[in-house]
Amino acid sequence: MSDNYRPIGVFDSGYGGLTIFKELLRELPQYDYIYLGDNARNPYGTRSFEVVYDYTRQAVFQLFEQGCRLVVLACNTASAKALRNIQQLDLPVTYPDRRVLGVIRPSVEMIPDLTKTGHVGVLGTKGTVLSESYPMEIAKISPDSPIYVTQVACPMWVPIVENNLIDSPGAAFFVKQNLDELFGKDPLIDTVILGCTHYPLLTNVIRQYLPENVHLLTQGTIVADRLKDYLFRYPEMELNCSKAGRREFFTTESTANFDQLANLFLGSEVKSRHIKLG
Ligand code: DGL
Repeated sequence: MSDNYRPIGVFDSGYGGLTIFKELLRELPQYDYIYLGDNARNPYGTRSFEVVYDYTRQAVFQLFEQGCRLVVLACNTASAKALRNIQQLDLPVTYPDRRVLGVIRPSVEMIPDLTKTGHVGVLGTKGTVLSESYPMEIAKISPDSPIYVTQVACPMWVPIVENNLIDSPGAAFFVKQNLDELFGKDPLIDTVILGCTHYPLLTNVIRQYLPENVHLLTQGTIVADRLKDYLFRYPEMELNCSKAGRREFFTTESTANFDQLANLFLGSEVKSRHIKLG
């Protein structure tokens, strides 16, 4: 590998990060990218803090080994459970000149401008919900006018996406069930954050059951905008990202399955390679 090849790494437990990746390619197509999906160990959402941290660190280090100077955790569960440790414990010791960014902070920064009622819903994995990352981050950005946050974990949504059951009656059943639960807990919610990068792949189903006039916040464009802003504010990092428009894909599971679904989700041909983590 040439030392001039310095792609931006994009990591998720599986296919969900492709919803972020798609927007990165749209907004910042000039950069080289490596997408890594840990499909073999998905879902992360039900795993402990220690396991998510361990798996995420393995993936980030692998992306660093492949030349990435900057990695985006396109996964809320990893952002909630591993980002802080990686930034504070691992990078200073092992890779002081590399950076890892998450998806939670950029998403919550939009909230105060969107909600009129001050009541917000967060849908995420069990891990993200239990970490309380969203309520904590929202409280930080709006200390003077409290925003009420109601969270619901949707444990079936990621397996539905990973198994390409998006248009099935089962998908409709579980989406309705979780949205009913959310609005049953707080009918004043006017803004819902899809706090898992897999969930935008269910947007059509979600819209069928979401009350009208409720904002649905997906993370792809927000993260792409924030990355653009980050690269503008840190020109030394921007110069460290190579720009030949090259894309590589790695999965820890079957490449044939990955290519088929990634192709469907991204709308362009994907040829992945297998990689083993851990
Ligand atoms: N896509 C991930 C997220 O944003 C994780 C899904 C999972 O592995 O449970 O949380």
